[in-house]
Amino acid sequence: MSPADPARGALAAVAGLLACPECGSGMESRDRMLRCGHGHSFDVAKQGYVSLLTGASTKMTGDTAAMLDARAAFQGGGHFAPIADAVAAAVAADAPSGPVLDGDAVLEVGAGTGYYLAAALDTVPAIGIALDVAKPAARRGARAHPRAAAILADAWRGLPVRDGALRRVLSVFAPRNPSEVARALTTDGRFVVATPTPRHLAELIGPLAMVTVDPDKDRRLGEAMSGHFTPVERTLVEYSMKLTRADVGNVVAMGPSAHHPTPHLEAIPETLEVTASVQISTYQPKGQALRSPS
Ligand SMILES: C[S@@+](CC[C@H](N)C(=O)[O-])C[C@H]1O[C@@H](n2cnc3c(N)ncnc32)[C@H](O)[C@@H]1O
Ligand SMILES: [Zn+2]
Repeated sequence: MSPADPARGALAAVAGLLACPECGSGMESRDRMLRCGHGHSFDVAKQGYVSLLTGASTKMTGDTAAMLDARAAFQGGGHFAPIADAVAAAVAADAPSGPVLDGDAVLEVGAGTGYYLAAALDTVPAIGIALDVAKPAARRGARAHPRAAAILADAWRGLPVRDGALRRVLSVFAPRNPSEVARALTTDGRFVVATPTPRHLAELIGPLAMVTVDPDKDRRLGEAMSGHFTPVERTLVEYSMKLTRADVGNVVAMGPSAHHPTPHLEAIPETLEVTASVQISTYQPKGQALRSPS
């Protein structure tokens, strides 16, 4: 079995939930391709992901391979494990247990390394879809979990998913596109969103001239979501991490500050206590009872 085989299997299992990005019709998996009924076809890459980016190439390129490497190294150190546990618990709330159900899928928008999707798949019996606009992320997404499929797509152009197809969608430090997520969720679906609070990594912002969290972000998130979603649950995950200078280097390299001039890491101590502070919000689509189940 090649390392990409589980991802291809997962892709075949969720193909019926996907929508052709050219014409919107349903897709099926055949001969290492996804095809729609109108003859549009999309090759599955040898690394196991499928690109559903179409038309004029998107201006979005997402995170670079170097950012993803730094993110994976930091996540591998377990520093964000309490966040992953809380995200997984939010995804599992009210979810069915038991064997993997046919067509039951969790999609992560902007999945990056697939770290949070993998944690969610360890708690719910579903197939995962790691969606990201960056190729290095799609490659990582395909390897993130034995039940993870990976799709290259720009979430701002719409989700290549059929109406009412997904039971859970998550977005962790990533784009949201609320109208599209609401369209794609099942009648009893949930959208789990994790956003940093202004206290997240606050100790590093000054010394390393990092990009700060906009204190108004929470209000703006609420406004953007309110047209399509009703909040059902909110959990604050806040704790102190003991980071080495190498960990701090990864934090800088994995985030938006990676595009800024490299800060002087020597200026910070060998080890440092740094706050992690993330709000995890669960939403249900408004008027979901009015739509017929898929
Ligand atoms: C800050 S990272 C978070 C990744 C992951 N959720 C995590 O926390 O490890 C944001 C991710 O969103 C992706 N992204 C940015 N814009 C996107 C878009 N328009 N569509 C899909 N993914 C996007 C980036 O490539 C990146 O992997
Ligand atoms: Zn088509």
